[in-house]
Formats: sequence, structure tokens, C-alpha cells
Amino acid sequence: MEITRDIRYIGVNDHDLDLFEGQYIVPNGMAYNSYVLLDEKIAVMDTVDAHFGEEWLSRLDAVLAGRKPDYLIVQHMEPDHSANIMRFLEAYPEATVVSSAKSFQMMKNFYGSDLSDRSRLVVGDRSTLALGKHSLTFVAAPMVHWPEVIFTYDSTDQVLFSADAFGKFGALDYEDPEGWACEARRYYFGIVGKYGAQVQAVLKKLAGLPLAAICPLHGPVLTENLSRYLETYNTWSSYGTESEGIVINYTSVYGHTAQAAEALAALLKEKGCPKVAVNDLARCDMPEAVEDTFRYGKAVFATTTYNADIFPFMKTFLEHLTERNWQNKTVGLIENGSWAPTAAKGMKALLEGSKNLTFLEPVVRINSALNEESRAQLEALADALMA
Ligand code: FEO
Repeated sequence: MEITRDIRYIGVNDHDLDLFEGQYIVPNGMAYNSYVLLDEKIAVMDTVDAHFGEEWLSRLDAVLAGRKPDYLIVQHMEPDHSANIMRFLEAYPEATVVSSAKSFQMMKNFYGSDLSDRSRLVVGDRSTLALGKHSLTFVAAPMVHWPEVIFTYDSTDQVLFSADAFGKFGALDYEDPEGWACEARRYYFGIVGKYGAQVQAVLKKLAGLPLAAICPLHGPVLTENLSRYLETYNTWSSYGTESEGIVINYTSVYGHTAQAAEALAALLKEKGCPKVAVNDLARCDMPEAVEDTFRYGKAVFATTTYNADIFPFMKTFLEHLTERNWQNKTVGLIENGSWAPTAAKGMKALLEGSKNLTFLEPVVRINSALNEESRAQLEALADALMA
């Protein structure tokens, strides 16, 4: 696939993977992207997952048409991209590996060599590499989302190679009817969400760069409305509100807390809320609930008191949020308990370290099942959420 006259795509699609990074379902597969820049010197940008070495090398071979690559640029050392470095060097022992100092340390840990005994080039922020007509500038992108990451900007074709940033779940031979944002959002908040400050820092470095295309390591090459992607990343990384709406996340043992969640959703819709997302945390794909809860400005958590604490799925969910620096939201709480309800207190305690949360009143208290009193509290909470 041709990205520009000199830039070719040689990535692969993975439809066999059960869990990406050991935890994310990928029902539509995953793409590990790799690119070749053909100039007087030839640069290959990243390798692919271990299972696809042969396929990738044969794609590379086809693009090279008898030439030899001069450089392998390693932007990110996570094994979905770095697994074939040594295999590449077996095939092309003369090539120079270009990467950050931290990457070479990681190569030693992952693959047994930091390549100091062969041709390597250590680059840092703003280092450049001339290939002929094309000149590459490296941009350090620490913690987006590993410390060694570098982006690469080709000023000739105005193409940004953005490592994992702007990537999404899904193989490239699958046409995603939901477009880019849905699976890019689940990917971003699942994997990069904690590092908003670092994403903000790299977005500032990229500001004003002329851009014709963004080439991430996952998902499609982006070529149109690029400011939209940059703006979306700005919203996500600043923990802003992307869409107007309210998410209700609940757990329920016998269905009574679920009834309360659904009753609240119905009230909110009646009152004109543009979007109400409801997630049963025990049954949904939790990373989908995580992305909803970052996406909207208001979130309700409804759970049961359990072992004098809160129900396990809610506990896990709140940890998913707090470890990713969830912040800047309006929060409603619903607790259920049959003899000593303490779930709201437990949820608040778990959210204690989250910045800039506004807790609404009333906290809805259900004693086993909804009754007149708790229904009135739900109505009041709906009003507070819509205020
Ligand atoms: Fe796609 Fe962070 O590896």
C-alpha cells in the first residue's frame, strides 16, 4: 500500500489474537503497522508482532525490490512492534538501528543485546536523519505510553509517524462502521489514559507542524481532517468532556440495583439528556465502560454493599478509573444494602485521590429494593444531574 510516493505500508493484520496486551478483547482483530520510506537511503519504521515475522519480512522484501534497507527506526519497544528486530538484523546485518537510548537498554532486556556491538544510532528529541530527499526529525514522546517512545516526522511529505498515538483496535481489512473514534477511544483510555500530561506535552511539540498524514502503529493511516484527531487527543488527554451525556455504571446482585440504574436512565431521558449510557459492570466489556466514563462529563455509580465494602466489579472498575487519572467530572452515587448500607462511603473513599470531582446530592440509598422514598431520591438525583 502506498502512503505517499516514497512511503509504503508493510504492516500486518492479526485475527487470531484473543486479548491485546493481555487484557483487551479485539473482536475485529488488530493491525501492527510498519512503514518503509524509500529514498537514497531506505528507512524501515518498526517491526511487527512475533507471530508475523515471516509475513512482514516478505512484504518488506517485495517493497525493497532488490535494494537493502539502511535503517530500522524503532519508535517503540513494546513487543507488538519490536519482536522482529533481531530477525530483521539476521536478514539485513548491515542496517543501522535508530532509536532512543532507553530503547537500546530495553532491547538488551527483551532480546539480549543493546546492539552496541553493531551499527546503531542513538537519537533524542529533535535529532534529525537525512535520507536524501527526505529529512526525518525525531520527537521524544516519553510515556506515550512507554518511556522510550519517539515519534518521527518526515518534513518532505509532512507525515508524522506517531507510534501508538492515534491508534485504534481493529485490523485494517475490517471496515469499522463506527469509524475511528469508538475503538480509538477504548484504546486510548485503556492504554494511554493515565498519561494525559505526557500526551499534552507531545501535542504541544507537534503544534503548528504541517501535516498531510498521521501514520500510527495501529489502526488506519489518517489523511483527512487531521486537526479533528489532534483536537480529540487534546480533549482526551486533558480529561475534558468529549460528548454531552451521562454514564450510569452499576453492579447488581438480584436485579434491584439494576432496576434503579434503569429507572434513573429513563428519568434522565425523559428530562432530555442527549445520551445516557448504562453499563452492567459484571457483564459488559469493562474497557467500554471505562471509555464511556472518560467521554461524558457526568457519571453515576450504583452498587451493593458487600462484605462491609463494595461489590467487587465496582471496586475493580473504580480502580480502572483512578489508576488512569480520571478527573474533572460530576458524580452521582447510588448504594444498596440490606442491613448496613455503606457502599456510597466505600465508592467515595476509592475516588478520594481523583482531582476535581463534584459529588451530587442526594446519594440514593436503596434498602434491598426500590420503594417510594428511594424513587423520590432517584428523581432528585436526576434533577441534580440535569441542572
Ligand atoms: Fe502498540 Fe504500546 O504497543
